[in-house]
Amino acid sequence: MSTVRVNLGERSYVIKIAAGLLGRLGQELASDLGQAQVALVTDSNVASLYQKTTEESLTRAGFTPGVAVVPAGEEQKNLEWASRLYDEFFEMELERSSVILALGGGMIGDLGGFAAATFMRGVPFVQIPTTLLAQVDSSVGGKVAVNHKYGKNMIGAFYQPRAVYIDPETLRTLPKEELRSGLAEVVKYGVILEGEFFGFLEENVAKILALDIDVISSIIERCCALKAQVVEKDERETGLRAILNYGHTTAHALETLLEYKGLRHGEAVSVGMLVASEVAERMNLIQKEVTSRQENLLERLGLPTRIRAGVHEVLSLTFHDKKVKGGRLRFVLPTKIGEVIISDEVSEEILREALSERLGA
Ligand code: NAD
Ligand code: GLY
Repeated sequence: MSTVRVNLGERSYVIKIAAGLLGRLGQELASDLGQAQVALVTDSNVASLYQKTTEESLTRAGFTPGVAVVPAGEEQKNLEWASRLYDEFFEMELERSSVILALGGGMIGDLGGFAAATFMRGVPFVQIPTTLLAQVDSSVGGKVAVNHKYGKNMIGAFYQPRAVYIDPETLRTLPKEELRSGLAEVVKYGVILEGEFFGFLEENVAKILALDIDVISSIIERCCALKAQVVEKDERETGLRAILNYGHTTAHALETLLEYKGLRHGEAVSVGMLVASEVAERMNLIQKEVTSRQENLLERLGLPTRIRAGVHEVLSLTFHDKKVKGGRLRFVLPTKIGEVIISDEVSEEILREALSERLGA
């Protein structure tokens, strides 16, 4: 088993990564957090695959878990479902010392974590992520949220989990498109923080796509360690943490424009990273080779490097977003593979050129 520690003073916690960990979740939980009343929150897809194993493991270790199942899908990540969870928690007679276990992808981690952060002013919670995106990103760092009609993740909190348990074996049942989507975030860590890790990904594409558990486990561990380093320095995103949004400015505009239909988050991030890299080239921060290496790796991993969307529409959505948030347009730009800067000096003209390169209208 590998472990990564997130050092945040009294909010510190451990991330445990091991194949088959779900089957011994109960004993890990008992030794890390002690005995408590627990409530398992999961979605309908994950429940049909992993509820039985999880419940049995908890029961073997002396827990009597209550279970709340939310229908799968981002549409359920809202205040109405948070409120339904509160009802279920009251019916389970949870107390302030009870522990919420969020078993699923980022949707369940965010919704379950938000419910935990607000129920009785906050009860302990544990992340048990089952998608690659959740294992390398959303389960670590304490961002919990629900969506609002005025925007995605607009109602939320910084609320750290007490522990994160990752079983890479759960990725075997994940649809291939979901796996690829998570791989975009994996590539992101290489570009923003560690050239050596990027090189490791380049050398291991075949093993990654074949879900070689040793390779996947070491990738998850490295991503969690890199994210932990960033979160430890800037837990509440006052500066540095924004580098984790590399590729996300354009990705969000694309997602809004295409109304999420047929476009996964990771696919949008893949194109978004290349747009940011094209911007960096035009600002003379990097040579073309830095963009080509990213393009090559993303393509080999089965991710899109171009997309059909209108340049004008994406541009105006990007600037609209900036106005809504009341700030300057901020871009995370690579200066080499493994290093980025945050710039608010990207001109509309340069962004238009970069978008034209990647969006075939
Ligand atoms: P998701 O949770 O909706 O999961 C995607 C699909 O995979 C769902 O249908 C789910 O039921 C299914 N699934 C989950 N695990 C499975 C498994 N092992 N086998 C088979 N099917 C499985 O989506 P996601 O991509 O994991 O997460 C996206 C969410 O994460 C968004 O809401 C996004 O806002 C959020 N997010 C949060 C953070 C953060 O820091 N909190 C960071 C990035 C993304
Ligand atoms: N996913 C970005 C963050 O956690 O800050």
